[in-house]
Amino acid sequence: MAFATRHFVRAASSDAATAAAKKLLIKHVTIIGGGLMGAGIAQVAAASGHTVVLVDQSDEILKKSTKGIEESLKRVTKKKFADKPEAGAEFIKKTLKNLTTSTDAASVVHSTDLVIEAIVENLEVKNELFKTLDKFAPEHTIFASNTSSLQITKMANTTTRQDRFGGLHFFNPVPMMKLVEVIKTPMTSQKTFESLMDFSKAVGKSPVSCKDTPGFIVNRLLVPYMMEAVRLFERGDASKEDIDVAMKLGAGYPMGPFELLDYVGLDTSKYIIDGWHSLEPNNPLFAPSPLLNKLVEEKKLGKKTGEGFYKYK
Ligand code: NAI
Repeated sequence: MAFATRHFVRAASSDAATAAAKKLLIKHVTIIGGGLMGAGIAQVAAASGHTVVLVDQSDEILKKSTKGIEESLKRVTKKKFADKPEAGAEFIKKTLKNLTTSTDAASVVHSTDLVIEAIVENLEVKNELFKTLDKFAPEHTIFASNTSSLQITKMANTTTRQDRFGGLHFFNPVPMMKLVEVIKTPMTSQKTFESLMDFSKAVGKSPVSCKDTPGFIVNRLLVPYMMEAVRLFERGDASKEDIDVAMKLGAGYPMGPFELLDYVGLDTSKYIIDGWHSLEPNNPLFAPSPLLNKLVEEKKLGKKTGEGFYKYK
């Protein structure tokens, strides 16, 4: 038995070693989209020793992204190196040294191991980008999308590298949130999947895996929950204030559903639910809400516009 166990352990570790030798170790990353999410992903990737190129449409946007990253790094460093300001300054310097920017995605992907797309949530625009980059990136390069609500499989199908394509769904704000959902389509290879899991861990996150299904894990549970709260309120069963208090005090959630909707943005939530409703029109969990639609029409989009379900002025 002892021999059998030892033999098994040896066989298992040599199998693991072979798998590790095969999968791609990601060192160089290209991130397309320097907005809220892309800048955050660039920050954590650069801070964990990857060389990163951040791409966006103009130098002006990229300047803003870099400034945001610098400010965020200062906040992180203040906490992480509270007693060692010199080590903190060194950490910022090293991180920024790992980061460059570009406005020309096609010209920078030639030596990249991983492309992470974090541009506007529009399938046609994303497909167009991936189709172009597929021609310029080397064969080994893995492509990943940070989409919240679109199908990864559809994007993968616009390229010739369906087996080297997956989802990497980070959460906002990226430097603070520990979760990454790693999405496997039916064509994603095991090797690609493992490389994406390893990369997520390397940037300090805790990855979970999910198939390419609407909303993956978190949003699939969270969005119908928020919509159900709106329906409860629409029917007049409870006030929004009471629903928020109830979920905070009764379920231990840090925010109530209406506070969360205002934080996420009512337009974003509407966009997600409308997209899922068109995929599955008979699914009551994905039914649109007249009240949400009305608020979006009135440009009451939540915190960002000063008013959503609540007023912020
Ligand atoms: P954002 O609007 O802050 O940033 C998008 C950036 O992409 C902009 O700077 C824009 O100039 C740039 N861009 C657009 N088209 C481009 C192109 N063709 N080439 C290069 N750059 C381009 O958007 P955000 O919030 O960062 O979202 C990005 C992606 O991440 C979306 O797919 C979104 O669904 C997803 N996501 C968003 C979360 C959030 O809480 N905001 C959370 C998780 C995922």
